[in-house]
Amino acid sequence: VALPLLAGCADQGSTGILVPSAAPLPEPFGVPLPIPPVLEPVRTDESTDYYEITQRAAKREILPGLTTEIWGYNGIFPGPTLVTRRGRRAVVRQRNELPVPVAVHLHGGVTPEEHDGYPIDVILPVGGWQPDPAHAGHPLGVTSQDEREYVYPLDQPACTLWYHDHRMDFTGPQVYRGLAGFHLVRDDIEDALPLPRGERDVPLMICDRTFAEDGSFAYPSIDPSLGGVPGVPVDLMDGVLGDVNLVNGAPWPYLEVSNTRYRFRILNAANARRYRLQLDPRPAEGPSFVQVGSDVGLLGAPIAHDQIEIASAERFDVVIDFAAYPVGTEVTLVNAYGVETTRPIMRFHVVREEPDDTRIPERLVEFETLDRADATVERDFRFANDRVDGVRMWTINGLPFDPERIDADPALGAVEIWRLRTNVHHPVHLHMAHFQVLTRNGRAPGPYDAGWKDTVDLAGGEEAEIIVRFDGFQGRYVFHCHNLEHEDMMMMANFRVR
Ligand code: C2O
Ligand code: CU
Repeated sequence: VALPLLAGCADQGSTGILVPSAAPLPEPFGVPLPIPPVLEPVRTDESTDYYEITQRAAKREILPGLTTEIWGYNGIFPGPTLVTRRGRRAVVRQRNELPVPVAVHLHGGVTPEEHDGYPIDVILPVGGWQPDPAHAGHPLGVTSQDEREYVYPLDQPACTLWYHDHRMDFTGPQVYRGLAGFHLVRDDIEDALPLPRGERDVPLMICDRTFAEDGSFAYPSIDPSLGGVPGVPVDLMDGVLGDVNLVNGAPWPYLEVSNTRYRFRILNAANARRYRLQLDPRPAEGPSFVQVGSDVGLLGAPIAHDQIEIASAERFDVVIDFAAYPVGTEVTLVNAYGVETTRPIMRFHVVREEPDDTRIPERLVEFETLDRADATVERDFRFANDRVDGVRMWTINGLPFDPERIDADPALGAVEIWRLRTNVHHPVHLHMAHFQVLTRNGRAPGPYDAGWKDTVDLAGGEEAEIIVRFDGFQGRYVFHCHNLEHEDMMMMANFRVR
């Protein structure tokens, strides 16, 4: 089946190509928001919680009346949510019953290198695996057969992490098929805050997908071994955009809420799409969103937003106060960058009154702002396209990813300033090390740059200075563009903490 393309589609804000779905799409807001189940540990001891996950294919009904084969952690998409406490180790045994190698990365986790899901450190499938001849020269790192254990110390403040596939060259298609889930870290400081909790603390994984006529995911690719739709002549290097917004795996779902505050941990898990989130209607009084946390922790003080721009892999931890709406109101979360089907995301039905004893304190956590004077090293990285051996690739400083090459060698504990420049939109992510945005285009950071970050969203032609603290562990880690097609087309490099 050849799918038509919307070349130069009207969606603003994202670098990518949209392939419309061939499947019939439902009316939006017809299905309830699913909440991914919290995974129970198989055992615990005084220091550690032990979890087991099997990655496997499964059939799911995502569009009504059609079946979609997903690749999921425990066969579900999103995968199960892990909820762990600061300072307690989590050991996750991952078993690979998929037909392809996998690597699991805990995004935002401060993790020893051997447990970070380095892109060539893969788990080979149960039942063996023969490399595709087209990729026979592909390097393999530390591989394991069938399964392996990832050990996460999680000695880091309460935050919203997520885990996803990270296999070199194939992260885009493998995440597209469903390999992503939440991992929440909690601590005593967060527990003491009067923020919404329990059923009013809701993870929202937002992403976009395109569906083939039979309901399967249509990942466009000229190379069917990438899991693509044969015959679609798409140069997917720009990024894959879909025309269906999924939240927690459901198309344009709805959630019934009371007229109280809710905390939403918003994750953009799309391969390439950047969202501009707004509420429609906006509240008559007060802000649409009050941000309380960023990628890897709570803010020092809350920030009110009328809209939120969120790029792939970023997290915004926000409170929406539905007391601003009369009971009976339907409030739609929209993507102001979207058109037609890509505009609506989900809908909240304010269905009942309820007492609310939560509040958003003026101070959230002790926040340490890093200072330019603390930095000992400055480095420059340019994210752009280059021809490498005649092939167009996404590169960093003109170079494609090479697992053997170390592009920066910070000392453990050092603070460095990295200057990042882009040609088109690139969300830039560092593994292991967290950072703050120091400047954007030579000025103060933008409205969405606050807090501790692991990903910074840069539009085309932008330049930012980030101040990074290489706390945690020595070893080799990657940094890369989190547009997954750019990442797969080599926009990735290594730093080694010495
Ligand atoms: Cu979210 Cu290197 O990844
Ligand atoms: Cu990019």
